[in-house]
This record gives sequence, C-alpha cells and structure tokens, in this order.
Amino acid sequence: MTIPLEDNAGDIIGKAQRGLGISDSQLAERAGLTGKLREGNFDDESLGRVAPILNLSATALRKLASGKWEAEKIGEIDGLAMFNTTYGDMTVNAYLVWDPSTHDAVAFDTGADCGGMLARAQSEHLKIKLILLTHAHPDHVADLERLRETTGAPVYISELEPEEGADPIAEGKRFEVGSLKIETRLTSGHSPGGITYVVTGLAKPLAIVGDSLFAGSMGGGNVSYQDALRNNREKILTLPDETIVCPGHGPLTTVGKEKRDNPFFADV
Ligand SMILES: [Fe+2]
Repeated sequence: MTIPLEDNAGDIIGKAQRGLGISDSQLAERAGLTGKLREGNFDDESLGRVAPILNLSATALRKLASGKWEAEKIGEIDGLAMFNTTYGDMTVNAYLVWDPSTHDAVAFDTGADCGGMLARAQSEHLKIKLILLTHAHPDHVADLERLRETTGAPVYISELEPEEGADPIAEGKRFEVGSLKIETRLTSGHSPGGITYVVTGLAKPLAIVGDSLFAGSMGGGNVSYQDALRNNREKILTLPDETIVCPGHGPLTTVGKEKRDNPFFADV
C-alpha cells in the first residue's frame, strides 16, 4: 500500500508561517511578490524567495511543489507492520512491532480502528505485551479501550499528556519486549508530551515518531514551533541515517532521507 505524502508545499509554507507568526501579506511583502502566494503560483522563483524568509529549504520545497519528492522505498522489515485507518476526513497510522523469534509484540497507537492490527497479531501468532502511545490526539488513540481490553496489555503515555487508561512515563523510560529494546524521547512541540519511541533489535532501528516528523514535513507546531523543530533536529535526526521513521500520518521514511529532503531540515 502506498500512502501519499501528508503535506504539500502549501501546507508546509502555512505551517512555517503560523510557527513564525508571518501573515500572508507580510510574506508577500517581504518576498517582493505581488499578490498572495497560492497553490498554482508556486513557481521556482517565488519559492526561492519565500524559503529563506521561512527558514525552509528552497530545493526541497521545489521538489515537493513539482511532484518530484518521492518517498523512500522501504522494503518489508520482519517484525514491523503499519496500519492506516480513516478518521473523519484524514487517515492515521498505527504500528505493530514484534520480535520475530518470540512473537512478543508492541502496539504503537491504535489509529481510528485497531481491527487490522488485531487481525495481523492473530495471523502472525503475536502476543501484544505493551501499548505505547505517541500522543493523545484523538485520531491516534481512538480505539484504545478495545485494544486494551482485547489484549490486557499495559498502556503508557507521556506524563505531560495524561490519557484515561494509560500510565504516565517520563523521557528516558526504557522497555524490553522479547529481544526488542525501546527508548523514549520527548519530542514535544506538536503536542505537549509527544514521544518518539526508538526501537532496536530488528534488522534496522525504528523511530515511532507520532506527529513529530512526517516524510517531507512535520506535524504543526501547535504547542511550540521552535520546540518541534529543535526536538526533531536533536532527538530524531541524530539517529543513524538508516533508521526507519514511522510517522503518525503519511508514508514511512528514513532519517537519512529527511536530513536530505525535508524542507524544514534540509540545508537550512
Ligand atoms: Fe497529532
């Protein structure tokens, strides 16, 4: 299944404007553009003018605007499954990660509907031992009650973002499930207690990032745009390039790809 990118060039420009407090008219004026920058007039020259004002990579923005931004092709990883479900007018991702030899598994978020996850757990003979939440936005935890009751697994979320039925954890908390090791990093900014779970023990390291980082974009900096940028830079993009990034929306990506091609982080 190929999932489209979560954000287009216009979405990214909007997120940067809101984060920096730059209105449409201020942007147009500073960039020396006549008229508002709109989808359809994202020509290379306009993007080249607005990118430095918004601290974005012009090269990466042009690639997105021209449809040439291609998501990294990531082959099957034994022990990782993605579930994409529909929540209102959007889609959201949840993940199952398991030790292929012991079949002990961890669910990351629930998505809108955990039915696909439960079916996969059954077909792979997995035992879901742990439910870890990236953040409490409703699309990510919509089916928590059912997942918790069906599996009987303990549920954890950041202490900064309490959720009914989940126990609070602080940054640095570690979990071990089968041969998998999981470390928690606070990547707040999109939400107050957004957590990135770094999983090692499979063929490649994984970072389950929630809405902190997307392929080619990132979650809106609703709580703090500057924290979101800094946490992504310091706590996700410092992981090995081969790390598979598993975002809450849009396709899988890698740390190396986002360092090269994400408009918020590439050559800025
Ligand atoms: Fe979110």
